[in-house]
Amino acid sequence: MRILFLGDVMGRGGRQAVAERLPGLRRDWRLDFVVVNGENATGGRGLSTEHAKGLLEAGADVITLGDHAFDQKDMLRFCEAEPRIIRPLNYSKSAPGTGARVFEATRGRKVLVAQVLGQVFMSRPYDDPFSALEPVLKAHPPGGAVAASLIDIHCEATSEKMGVGHFCDGRASIVVGTHTHVPTADATILPRGTAFQSDAGMCGDYDSVIGMQKDEPLRRFVTGMPGGRFTPAMEEVTLCGLYVETDDRTGLASRVEMVRQGGRLSQTGPA
Ligand SMILES: [Fe+2]
Ligand SMILES: [Fe+2]
Repeated sequence: MRILFLGDVMGRGGRQAVAERLPGLRRDWRLDFVVVNGENATGGRGLSTEHAKGLLEAGADVITLGDHAFDQKDMLRFCEAEPRIIRPLNYSKSAPGTGARVFEATRGRKVLVAQVLGQVFMSRPYDDPFSALEPVLKAHPPGGAVAASLIDIHCEATSEKMGVGHFCDGRASIVVGTHTHVPTADATILPRGTAFQSDAGMCGDYDSVIGMQKDEPLRRFVTGMPGGRFTPAMEEVTLCGLYVETDDRTGLASRVEMVRQGGRLSQTGPA
């Protein structure tokens, strides 16, 4: 199966780039399944119902969220109404929605998508991601009923992301990191067959500070004082993510390529 994951979509610029370019990538790369992280798609903070619908219409089969899952309050309801939204498994015991679900890809093949939050350097003390993942991995072994599985590990520390990658190695098709908004150059297939990248990077304008217009973050770094609001940068957007080919029989990865399309970053992709 050909699977594309796109990292955190940042604001209107990110949404527009996904809407304009994802249909072409779906066609040109003959994608069977697309997962998009949407936690920053609405003004950099959370994801509104309207913008979630836009990402689904553009060609996302599933949207994952993150620590900003419920910054837009309408997501509290919409994630219950729309099964194609996945919030972190370990966000909170009382969070609405679900953190893992099986979806259908082309030719009726089943794909598991799950997301967990890490604990290192995060704003809240989320529950242990490993024990949250364990029953999900156990219920969906590769080579079983699901043809492929994708785990989005949403956290700050590359060490924790690599830990989750190795924990899932041979038990999931893909483990991909999100949240830092900067792509790491370590896309690989781990020893037991799981495609891995510590962070997919964002779908946003990289002439910025992690997707925000650089003036206000710079002011805060330099002076230590806030002077205004954070606003998403809106110029040339690079779509960043991970392309993976999986073997339907084993459920493991056979090819992995980093994706950086358009905008300012050096370009790469499967084509
Ligand atoms: Fe995040
Ligand atoms: Fe993010």
